[in-house]
Amino acid sequence: MVDVKRAGEHALPTETRIWPLKRFTEIHKRSVEDPERFWAEEARKLDWYKTWDRVLEWDPPYARWFVGGKLNASYQCVDRHVKTWRRSKVAIYWEGENGETRVLSYSTLFYEVNRFASVLLRLGVRQGDRVALYLPMIPELPIFMLACARIGAVHTVIFSGFSAKALCDRVDDTQARVVITADGGYRRGKVIPLKHIADEAADICPSIEKIIVVKRSGEPVSMKEGRDLWLPDLLAEAESYVKPEPLEATHPLYVLYTSGTTGKPKGIVHNTGGYMVFNHSAYEWVFDIKEESIYWCTADVGWVTGHSQIVYAPLSHGAAMVIYEGALDYPQIDRWWEIVERYGVSIFYTSPTAIRMFMRHGEGWPLRHDLSSLELLGSVGEPINPEAWMWYYKYIGGERCPIVDTWWQTETGGVMISPTPGIEPIPLKPGSATFPLPGVDAAIVDTDGREVRTGETGLLIIRNPWPGMLADVYGDPQRYRESYWSRFPGAYYTGDLALRDQDGYFWLLGRADEVLKIAGHRIGTAEVEDAAVSHPAVSEAAAAGRPDPVKGDGIVLFVTLREGAQRSPELKRDICRHVRDTIGPIATPDEVHFIDLLPKTRSGKIMRRVLKAIAAGQSPGDLTTIEDEASIDEVKRAFASIR
Ligand code: PRX
Repeated sequence: MVDVKRAGEHALPTETRIWPLKRFTEIHKRSVEDPERFWAEEARKLDWYKTWDRVLEWDPPYARWFVGGKLNASYQCVDRHVKTWRRSKVAIYWEGENGETRVLSYSTLFYEVNRFASVLLRLGVRQGDRVALYLPMIPELPIFMLACARIGAVHTVIFSGFSAKALCDRVDDTQARVVITADGGYRRGKVIPLKHIADEAADICPSIEKIIVVKRSGEPVSMKEGRDLWLPDLLAEAESYVKPEPLEATHPLYVLYTSGTTGKPKGIVHNTGGYMVFNHSAYEWVFDIKEESIYWCTADVGWVTGHSQIVYAPLSHGAAMVIYEGALDYPQIDRWWEIVERYGVSIFYTSPTAIRMFMRHGEGWPLRHDLSSLELLGSVGEPINPEAWMWYYKYIGGERCPIVDTWWQTETGGVMISPTPGIEPIPLKPGSATFPLPGVDAAIVDTDGREVRTGETGLLIIRNPWPGMLADVYGDPQRYRESYWSRFPGAYYTGDLALRDQDGYFWLLGRADEVLKIAGHRIGTAEVEDAAVSHPAVSEAAAAGRPDPVKGDGIVLFVTLREGAQRSPELKRDICRHVRDTIGPIATPDEVHFIDLLPKTRSGKIMRRVLKAIAAGQSPGDLTTIEDEASIDEVKRAFASIR
C-alpha cells in the first residue's frame, strides 16, 4: 500500500498493514452520527446572504438541504475572490487545440460573468428559466454557466459531441428557449460545425426561440433573422455589473442529462445549496487543494466531472486551473504532457481510458517531458485496472504522487468514495477507491438488501442523504423514485457492483444494469437500440457491452432486418453510421451482427446475459440455467446465425 502524502517512500503494493486512520475515522464517525451538525459546519465555509433555518428536511426520497438559506453559486466562484488579493490570481489558463491561449484572472472572469449575465437578462432570461449550452471547451462555457447561476437561470449543458437529435431531445425536455452555441469547435484538427448542428436541432425543436453564437472557429455560418444573435454584438451593449441573485438553497442550479436503462436520458437536477456545500468540501478533502496548486481536470464540461471539478468546486476555492479545448493526441500523443510541463500542473485528474491510451503508446512520450511539478493524480469515470494505475503512478507521477481514484456519478453531484489526502493520508491499493467520504454512508448489499460478507460482490447503496445528491429527475418524479429509491427502500441505489476487502476498502466493479461505460461516458443500451431501430432496414435491435482493452466497454449491436432488406457489409456500415448520427460519435457500435432471432424469454425479454457472452466471443454459457427452457432453441439459433 502507498501512503498518499509520502507515496514515494513506500513500497508498492505488498505491505498489508492498515495505518491507523485517526483523523479520517474521527471525522467520518462524527459526520454520520450527527450529519446535520457536520454539514452545518461545512456550509459555513461558504458565503450566505441568509443562513438556513433547517439543515435538512428528509422526506424520503426527497432531501431538501439548507432550507431557508440564501446564496448564489456565481458569487461563491467569482465575487468572493475579487474582494481579496485573488483578483489578480489566474483562474483559467486556457489552451485551444490550435495552440491559441487565453489567461483569465479572477477579475477578468468576474467581469465576463457579469457581462454575459447582462446579455441573458437583456434577452429576457429570468430566474428559473432553462438555458441550453452547446459549446466546445472554451472559456465562454464556464462563463455562461456562472452567468446563468448569477441570475438564477438553470443551465443545461449538452456535450458538444452529441448530435442534433440528442441536442433536441434534451432541449425539448427542459423546454429551454435560449440555446448558446459556437460557430465551430476544434477536434483533432477538424472543425465541428456546432451552429449548423444547432440549426438542425432548432428545426425539430419548437421551444428554441433564440440562438446565441460565440465566435470560435471563424467558419461561415448561416444566421436566421430574428432568432440567431452573435455574442460579440450582444456584449457590445452589455452592462459590466449584474447583482447576483440571492437564491434559495433549494433553487435548481442545473439539469444535466445522463443515460439510464430506458431509451430516454434522465435530466438530473442539482440544487444550489447542497451541491455547492458538498462539492466545496469534497474538493478540499480529495484534491488537497492549495493556494499555489495548478489544477487540471481533463474532462469535458459537458459531463458532470466538468460541472463539479472544472467549474463549481475549483472556482469556489479560488483555484488556478488549466482548460484545454481539444483531443489528447493532437497533433501528437504527448500534447497533454507538454501542457503539464508548460503550465507546471500540480494536480492532474483524468480517466482510466486516457491512461490506457497513453500506456498503449509507451512511456517514451511522457518521459520526454519534465513532469516534476505534479504532486497528486486523480482518476474518474470507470474502474481503473491495477496495471493502468501502476503505469500512471510510475510514469506520470514519477512514483512520487498519490493517486486519488474517485468514485461518483452524475446523480451524486460530487465525489463519494475516494482517498482523502486533504484530511489524512490513506494507504492506497491500486484499483481501489478506498473509503467513502465524510457524510457518506455506503454499503454493499445482496438483492434482498442484506449486507454481503467481506470479499463478496454486491450492489452499492448509500444509506443516508448527502448534500450533493440529485434533487429530482427533471419533470419525472416517478422515474426518480423508481430508478434510485424503490429497489432498497430508504436507500439510494447506485446501479454499481462493488466489494469490500478484508481491510474494508471499496472496490468498484462496474455497472449492474444495462448502462455501458464507453471511455468513461455513460450510454444506455436502450438508447443505442432505439437509435438502431429508427433505421429503415432494422426490425429489432439489442445492444450489449463487450470488454474493450482501452475504452472499458465497446458496443456490439445485434439486429434483425425487416423483410426485403439484404444483409451486406454496406448495410452494417450504414446502421453504424445511423446510430452515430442519431446519438453522437461516442455511441458508435464497434460491431454490428445480423441475427435471425434475438434470444428472448417467452415473455419477450431479451436475454442479455446470452448476448453479452456472444458479444465477448464466449459461449452463451450453461443454457440449462435459463429459466424459460422454451427459449433455448432461440438462443442456439441466434448464436448459430452469427457464427
Ligand atoms: O459505474 C460507475 C462509474 O461511472 C458511473 C457514473 O457515471 P457518470 O454519471 O457518467 O459520472 C462519471 C463521472 C463521475 C458510476 O456509476 N464510475 C465513476 N467513477 C468510477 C466509476 N467506476 C469505478 N471507479 C470509479 N472511480
